[in-house]
Amino acid sequence: AEKKGRVEFRDVTFKYPGAEAPVLSNISFTAEPGKTLAIIGSTGAGKTTLVSLLPRLYDVASGDVLLDGVPVTEMDASEITSRVSAVPQKPYLFSGTIEHNLRFGKPDATDEELWDALETAQAKGFVEEKSSGLNRRIAQGGTNVSGGQRQRLSIARALVTKPNVYLFDDSFSALDVATDARLRKALKGKTKDATVIIVAQRVSTIADADEILVLDNGRIVDRGTHDELLETSPTYQEIVES
Ligand code: CTP
Ligand code: MG
Repeated sequence: AEKKGRVEFRDVTFKYPGAEAPVLSNISFTAEPGKTLAIIGSTGAGKTTLVSLLPRLYDVASGDVLLDGVPVTEMDASEITSRVSAVPQKPYLFSGTIEHNLRFGKPDATDEELWDALETAQAKGFVEEKSSGLNRRIAQGGTNVSGGQRQRLSIARALVTKPNVYLFDDSFSALDVATDARLRKALKGKTKDATVIIVAQRVSTIADADEILVLDNGRIVDRGTHDELLETSPTYQEIVES
């Protein structure tokens, strides 16, 4: 069967409700199952806004956002949630156990699936280190967990769902370079059939992506592989050197 999770943005322009100027203009791209699409650009470029349009945190007024050819505006929330897992830039944990947090998108997941996701997300050691294990309690707002641990638990939660599309919004930035590299390697094996979209700050996080979109001021100014962009994109070169 054909792999699912093809994401297409067709000439998307987006304004926040009540705002005058669009924060995204004429965005068009396709992200294919089995491939990784990366989005890079300076702060305020519109990266988080862009990835929030697929799970319909906002709906576009102009253009189309399609999942396997169907506009997401024609899908209901439960369908989108089961097919698209988004790891937000500021991940949230619920007060409750780690298990409760991990099962959020898939209540019937087995313990084995939870541990498998934790291992991929490089969070297994952190959960094993206390005897309470999966029953360890997370405080309200996840305040008893560090930023990097919160990111990794949030990544594990996304993996448990086994969606067609993963959105990682700056999900690797709180990790040291070695953990980042380990996590992405493990992730590659687990997301082979899915579409992976990664928003990143560090070029090292996305250098092996199949395609990179360079976003500047709400527009895609350049696109290509890391090697192509090094040759052709002054904006990308600036990010590499920063
Ligand atoms: N913005 C807004 N209302 C919101 C969220 C964002 O008006 N609810 C604006 C921001 O002020 C910014 C633009 O939309 O001018 C793009 O924001 P965002 O998509 O969050 O930019 P990122 O590229 O994600 O920035 P960062 O790298 O800092 O995460
Ligand atoms: Mg952002």
